[in-house]
Amino acid sequence: MTFQIAKPETASKPELYASLLSQLRSLLEGEHDFIANAANFAALLYGSLPDVNWTGFYLYKEGELVLGPFQGNPACVRIELGKGVCGAAAQLKQTLIVANVNEFPGHIACDSASNSEIVVPLIKDEQLIGVLDLDSPSFARFDEDDALGLNALGEVFLQAMQS
Ligand code: SME
Repeated sequence: MTFQIAKPETASKPELYASLLSQLRSLLEGEHDFIANAANFAALLYGSLPDVNWTGFYLYKEGELVLGPFQGNPACVRIELGKGVCGAAAQLKQTLIVANVNEFPGHIACDSASNSEIVVPLIKDEQLIGVLDLDSPSFARFDEDDALGLNALGEVFLQAMQS
């Protein structure tokens, strides 16, 4: 199977996310393996979104977040709930957009190139599955359009999980 990442350079963010939604649906169609789908989802985001240097997952295991499939530089493996942007988003069960990670109390610096971040909690049947984390070298890279788009993509990913 070959999969061509469509990267419309001039699309608005909502257009780009609409295109990613249909690409993710085709990527995950008929496949329920969680790790395989998470790996392809991370790669789709990394290859399609401009100005990102890390895209991937931290998965909720035995009370903490553990690094999952990702694209980008090697990252810290374990994050306590409530710690860093990922731990805070997981604990609050809310999407967090951080315009300048250096100003976020307790931010965990995995890559010194990262300056802004968005973290989307993944919740299925009221259970925390983990978080989707994206970093950018630019300040204030992420906004409400990214939050809406990534939450919609996260839903498609969660629906593909074997229940
Ligand atoms: N910066 C994150 C840690 C994970 S990396 O960005 C890949 C945080 O503060 O939770």
